[in-house]
Amino acid sequence: MMPAMPRPAVAQVQWRGAKTFLDPEKEEVFHDMVHFKKSANPHPMGLQKNLDHRPKPSEFWDNPMQHAVWTAEEVNSVKETHVEPTDFADRAAYYLVQIARKSFDFFSGYSWGPITYNKVLYRAMFLETVAGVPGMTAGMLRHLRSLRTMNRDHGWIHTLLEEAENERMHLLTFIQLKKPGPFFRLCVVGAQGVFMNAFFLMYLISPRTCHRFVGYLEEEAVHTYGTILEAIDDGRLEAWKTQPAPPIAINYWHMHPDATMRDLILQVRFPLPPLLLASPTSP
Ligand SMILES: [Fe+2]
Repeated sequence: MMPAMPRPAVAQVQWRGAKTFLDPEKEEVFHDMVHFKKSANPHPMGLQKNLDHRPKPSEFWDNPMQHAVWTAEEVNSVKETHVEPTDFADRAAYYLVQIARKSFDFFSGYSWGPITYNKVLYRAMFLETVAGVPGMTAGMLRHLRSLRTMNRDHGWIHTLLEEAENERMHLLTFIQLKKPGPFFRLCVVGAQGVFMNAFFLMYLISPRTCHRFVGYLEEEAVHTYGTILEAIDDGRLEAWKTQPAPPIAINYWHMHPDATMRDLILQVRFPLPPLLLASPTSP
């Protein structure tokens, strides 16, 4: 008779960073995902919350979503480019972005006076709250279309959602450096309410125009972060040459442990893949 194999003390299943622990001796299942543990309510299926795995204050969140990262060589090789509008949809997208940019620069005070850390951080935070909208909205609409038509989407949904998450990570990084006040948050709520609904409707009518809009938005973002890099290099934002980048960013973009704010801005400047800026393929 074969001797019984010793059972592992704790079996562990991992799926993209979320871990489930099964202890066969105690017949208890633990989940280490934070949202299971925030509430004091008992789990509806009677599972025990493993409070021992609650992130300690010194630890930082590790985003479990699969995503692309770029090398230092790639982020240093970014060049500003411009695609000339060729038809009505292109021109509509381009001028909408120009109007939005110039109005925002004027009313936010960015185009007035010298560049400062506060101006850069408030601008970056606000724009990232907007930049995270198109990928999520377009991804949701393509997901719904896939359900309705019962056809595959051939990778577009995940690419769009990954892009939305990348933009959200830009925001979550910048809020490590500046905590926005109630007025700023109110402006974000207003902008999101208008922009998300407008983009949603426009995507139903003309996805191509929406992708061209994001393309021109991306041109402006590359330009803005390029001017911030210039300001770091010529000494107007001198401290960011040596100031450490927040750990959440080092972890997400797999940066060097000694990465600085300048390295971070290089990562944030890295543009969308050209494929994303074109009209999506049909399923
Ligand atoms: Fe961004």
